[in-house]
Amino acid sequence: MIELRAFEPADALRVASWIDSLEALITWSGNTGFTWPFDAGQLSAFHASDPSRRCHVAVGSDGAPVGHFLLRTEPSGRSVRLGMVLISPAVRGRGYGEAMLEAALGEAFASPAIQRVNLGVYSHNAGAIRLYERLGFRTESVTPKVTSIAGEWWASITMSLPRDAWRPHAP
Ligand SMILES: CC(C)(COP(=O)(O)OP(=O)(O)OC[C@H]1O[C@@H](n2cnc3c(N)ncnc32)[C@H](O)[C@@H]1OP(=O)(O)O)[C@@H](O)C(=O)NCCC(=O)NCCS
Repeated sequence: MIELRAFEPADALRVASWIDSLEALITWSGNTGFTWPFDAGQLSAFHASDPSRRCHVAVGSDGAPVGHFLLRTEPSGRSVRLGMVLISPAVRGRGYGEAMLEAALGEAFASPAIQRVNLGVYSHNAGAIRLYERLGFRTESVTPKVTSIAGEWWASITMSLPRDAWRPHAP
């Protein structure tokens, strides 16, 4: 259904076009420091600034990108942070998100040293939380008031998938 490849600067325009509002930008990127209006230049600069972020796109059968995420090994060397998960709005609800994250987890756990994958998600992002739970992630902690948007506070949930709860899927 999808294949993963490394993010390339030429992908920035397409990925940035999937973000259509400040709310969508923050939902996707949290407190990364992007500003609205968002553009491809911010995304290219972000990816170029820190090679320890392993940024990926998922491509569909026609070779066009349909999704984006990054993996970053945490300082302990025993866990990976999954972040900036995004599927093109044009193809949501068709299983691309699940397929992309199954592949992402395969990549994250490819190193035997990695015992856990962690992520953060806003507490009102019910669709993303359902998807993460389907993949085996469970809530570790809730942090209230991490981000303020238009006078409203958003809470963040930290979710985690230990290696022994990971169910690998055939590629
Ligand atoms: C969260 C996100 C990545 C999910 O991607 P997606 O491709 O829509 O996810 P899937 O299609 O795999 O699953 C979504 C739903 O579609 C359903 N679905 C999957 N394949 C389907 C199909 N062939 N036909 C109908 N429905 C289908 C799934 O069962 C799931 O149902 P649910 O909403 O009841 O859980 C996407 O909505 C997104 O990019 N959101 C904005 C950014 C964001 O919130 N990122 C997460 C930040 S932490």
